[in-house]
Amino acid sequence: MEPIKRIGLLTGGGDCPGLNAVIRAVTKTAINLHGIEVFGFLDGFKGLVDNNFIKLDLERVSGIAHTGGTILGTTNRDNPFRYYTIEDGKEVYRDESDRAIDNVKCLGLDGLIVIGGDGSLNIAHLFSQKGVPIVGVPKTIDNDLSATEVTFGFYTAVNTASEALDKLHTTAESHHRVMVLEVMGRYAGWIALYAGLSGGADVILMPEIPYHLDSVIEKINYRYTLDKKFSIIVVAEGAKPVDGEMVVSKMVAGSHDPIRLGGIGQKLANDIEITTGIESRVTVLGHLQRGGGPIPYDRILSTRYGVAAVEQLVAGNSDVMVSLKDNAITSVPLVEAIREIRKVPVDSDIVLAAKALGISFGD
Ligand code: F6P
Repeated sequence: MEPIKRIGLLTGGGDCPGLNAVIRAVTKTAINLHGIEVFGFLDGFKGLVDNNFIKLDLERVSGIAHTGGTILGTTNRDNPFRYYTIEDGKEVYRDESDRAIDNVKCLGLDGLIVIGGDGSLNIAHLFSQKGVPIVGVPKTIDNDLSATEVTFGFYTAVNTASEALDKLHTTAESHHRVMVLEVMGRYAGWIALYAGLSGGADVILMPEIPYHLDSVIEKINYRYTLDKKFSIIVVAEGAKPVDGEMVVSKMVAGSHDPIRLGGIGQKLANDIEITTGIESRVTVLGHLQRGGGPIPYDRILSTRYGVAAVEQLVAGNSDVMVSLKDNAITSVPLVEAIREIRKVPVDSDIVLAAKALGISFGD
């Protein structure tokens, strides 16, 4: 096998705290340990299609591990295999993957590292099948990738949501209100569960356990009998009542998963206020969960992932994703990583622990 001389790197999908720490780790490992040149494509797969890149060197990646966002930019819209454009006022989808592969060849890249969630890793797998050596790095605040114990960015999002709950507690208590905090997570309830447990929520609602409004209200009323005239509810954006559907806020054309969830928090607060007469308010935490710098755990995990991704390419491995198993870094086939999303097991010890504390899941 010829030694690797040049690699490409891109960040795809929604941004996430820790992306810059991965970029830094990849670049430093490639240059310091192997003398490999690193090219960063701008705005995810769009940069690969448009051949829009920057050279990454030690100076460029210095001092960025603690910063939020991605110095390369990203997008969760552009899939080279179904590339969205508007032509003559009409929406058109084209397969631009060969254009992207030509760019890889022209630049003389020996491999590509794709930092992304399930959408970007699906695309990465398709490129790998077309002959591009690919290593994936699992990124998402949602923590919903099945082939790794933790994705980087998740614990930072939990930290943000937990801090929000601390603040909501004081105002909820002052006004004797029900405070609903809507958090992200798509079709999985990891952020809601961890933030709710950490932030002392009274009710946690997640997609994995469709809720009964009666049960939520029972909990609020029970607290009243204990003279606790306020309640804190964390609701995942993908939560739904047993007799209802998830609330969709918008559709995003060109996205791997065009559905954007959002709005269940407002619906729930309205339902509670109408039924109980208790003043209820909603806070939608939204993209604050993705913004800002990573907490130390995510800086370290991102760094470990970045180093391992380079070593995978150097070892000649492709179509794999670096992952965490028993707190050690390993790798799994990409196809395994994208097979299904990881949902919260409803009988997991953490759900049972929350129930033991009296937290209601609305079931
Ligand atoms: O996957 C990360 C995530 O933040 C989800 O939790 C959320 O549903 C979605 O992305 C929001 O996407 P957008 O940035 O397009 O609003």
